[in-house]
Amino acid sequence: MEREFLAAAIRHILSPEDQLRHPAYAALTAALSENQMALDLLGSVDERQQNPTLLLAILHLAALRGDETLTPLYESLNRGEIIDTEAFARTVVHYLEHHVEAVRAELDRMTQTNEVNRTAVLATVISDVARQLGHDEITLVDVGCSMGLNLFPDQVTIAKTDDGNPATLVTQCLSEGFVRSRVPRITRRIGVDQNLLSASDPEDVLWLKACLWPEERRRVQRFDAILAALPNWPKPEFRSGDAIGQVRQLLEEIGDEPVYLINSWVLYYFTDEDRVAWRALIDEYRAKRTIVWISFEHELMGLTLKFPHVPEPAPRKGANQVVVTSSAQDSTHWGWCHPHGHWFSVDSGPKA
Ligand SMILES: C[S@@+](CC[C@H](N)C(=O)[O-])C[C@H]1O[C@@H](n2cnc3c(N)ncnc32)[C@H](O)[C@@H]1O
Repeated sequence: MEREFLAAAIRHILSPEDQLRHPAYAALTAALSENQMALDLLGSVDERQQNPTLLLAILHLAALRGDETLTPLYESLNRGEIIDTEAFARTVVHYLEHHVEAVRAELDRMTQTNEVNRTAVLATVISDVARQLGHDEITLVDVGCSMGLNLFPDQVTIAKTDDGNPATLVTQCLSEGFVRSRVPRITRRIGVDQNLLSASDPEDVLWLKACLWPEERRRVQRFDAILAALPNWPKPEFRSGDAIGQVRQLLEEIGDEPVYLINSWVLYYFTDEDRVAWRALIDEYRAKRTIVWISFEHELMGLTLKFPHVPEPAPRKGANQVVVTSSAQDSTHWGWCHPHGHWFSVDSGPKA
């Protein structure tokens, strides 16, 4: 990637509303986007690996591992203490400039955040589509599942506002009159990922925590609370490998039951060719069997996925697009949502 594109990618990691929510990370992304060493480091890896959030996660990981300078700073962010955000950004950038080889050594990692609050939106879409199509029982396949935390739409509690329980997912519906439906019975839940993470591996848990944004205390608490709840929830099955090959195999193996395929912030990591191949796979199987594909991705992904043009502007900047494609219906823009599921709007489906 050209240097100015890398700089812009770093500058735009946080959407405008997230910049307000995360002032220290906003200052840090602004400082990193102007820092030669940060740009050199990111520019030195393979283009597919040039994900600017990787730098944030690597620096956060150093703090979680106990670096004497970074740890107290990140801990105060996590406690919600008011700190000098410019000074925070300067200190972190200074750390990066003096630990270049340590940062470089982590650059082959993948930012595979597993944001469970996305389930607040995914559960809503799954229920809405299942009600419309009359599906009472489904097999759920989370494609690019990371640790598999989004495989429990039937187990989580979802609320409009924070109820004080850290495990509760919180999302606000911006469309007046939308009625949430019941989540269908999930008879099988399967997670697919080329790099599966395990909730019982402390290193995997540490890395996922590093991928979280420390100022969002609630998000960190939710992650811990969901990990604590996991042993009480049904055990999912996992398949390790590339999404296209694994999903093809699953669709051949699974019986007649409707298969709901979900992907959130996964197709973004595919090449254009992979996205075209993914779409072809969906079209091949939706002609042969009952599938529902729910895509929760950056709006630009639609270009290679044959998604319909969306004339209306998103309700807020930086929104992600939710598109539903099924054996019953070609791709339909279902609505918009915050990248971490803090809110959603519904452009199709029931508005009672
Ligand atoms: C940013 S994470 C998102 C995880 C999860 N879907 C969520 O919403 O929190 C992207 C995940 O997609 C996986 N992934 C990316 N490309 C893949 C591919 N071609 N096949 C399988 N998994 C893939 C990565 O390993 C990673 O776990």
